[in-house]
Amino acid sequence: MVRRPDKLAKKIRDAGEQVRRQAEIRLDDRLPAIARRKNDAEPRTMEEIQAELDSLVGLESVKEQIRTQMAFLQIKAQRKEHGMADVSTSQHLVFMGNPGTGKTTVARLLAEMYGSIGMLEKGHLVEVDRAGMVGQYVGHTAAKTTKAVKKALGGVLFIDEAYALSPQNMGLGNDFGTESVETLIKRMEDHRNELVVVVAGYPKLMEKFLKSNPGLRSRFAREITFPDYNDAELVAITEKLARDADYRLGEGTEATLMVIFERAARTEAFGNARYARNLFEQAASRQAVRLSEDPASATLGMEALSTISSEDLRAAARLLDQG
Ligand SMILES: Nc1ncnc2c1ncn2[C@@H]1O[C@H](COP(=O)(O)OP(=O)(O)OP(=O)(O)O)[C@@H](O)[C@H]1O
Ligand SMILES: [Mg+2]
Repeated sequence: MVRRPDKLAKKIRDAGEQVRRQAEIRLDDRLPAIARRKNDAEPRTMEEIQAELDSLVGLESVKEQIRTQMAFLQIKAQRKEHGMADVSTSQHLVFMGNPGTGKTTVARLLAEMYGSIGMLEKGHLVEVDRAGMVGQYVGHTAAKTTKAVKKALGGVLFIDEAYALSPQNMGLGNDFGTESVETLIKRMEDHRNELVVVVAGYPKLMEKFLKSNPGLRSRFAREITFPDYNDAELVAITEKLARDADYRLGEGTEATLMVIFERAARTEAFGNARYARNLFEQAASRQAVRLSEDPASATLGMEALSTISSEDLRAAARLLDQG
């Protein structure tokens, strides 16, 4: 029997209705998740941010200095509420440390803390380097530097490898770094209540940078040193990176990691926690390859999927050492 077209049309309509209803249900299911995500974007409390800072491995002196700074700012705000004299202080900071010692991570948390206590309106972090500050021709640099500052108003302007701005570190030819530093100093003063500038980089080169302009060093409230991590700290950092990403390091991996970090060449270019991160990421790839070659790869449980083995780590280290 041939189906009558209107019957067929009804069937299609019904099927369409069913799909639509299912989609609605799925959307309802998702709503709490969407709401949760919205909450995540809400500002965190000081305690939550402080807890994340505390969870970083090592960095005791850095944590201590930040705690001191925050205590000072909170009391300062309370004094102000009582109409007591306001000690006007610059909050600009210098972060001295080798690559991968946690400078960017701490700067981001610091910005959030400033936001949380209301010292800065937004508490965001704008990260720039020389290319974001220095222009190609006369006049271009001041405009570019000012633009970077404007973007950071209400938050933290984090200038990575700030020494690249000082003249002695530049190649031949155009030297607009000086112009950038001069503009920056001026803007740091103009916006002292709306902006915190953090300049960061290798300790030796930062020394040079701070000496490159007579008025520069005195504009910063504190110089915070980020020490290199020792082997045990790098092991703990790798474990934390794994934990945060829903992995676990299997049996014997602690000893394996110790050997890997002991052997790593600690030249000036050593990546510290960045090396630990690369090692972990590389090991996670090795684990995936190992698991996919497993005949039972289609039915792996959580245990297998989450565990990184000593051999994964050793293979990862070999790859990294080959560069
Ligand atoms: N103390 C720590 N505990 C846990 N993880 C850390 C710690 N320090 C750094 N890390 C992790 O190591 C990575 C590199 O850190 P970060 O980018 O903050 O270093 P950096 O000093 O800014 O490096 P660079 O000079 O290369 O920019 C990040 O993934 C960060 O989460
Ligand atoms: Mg960084």
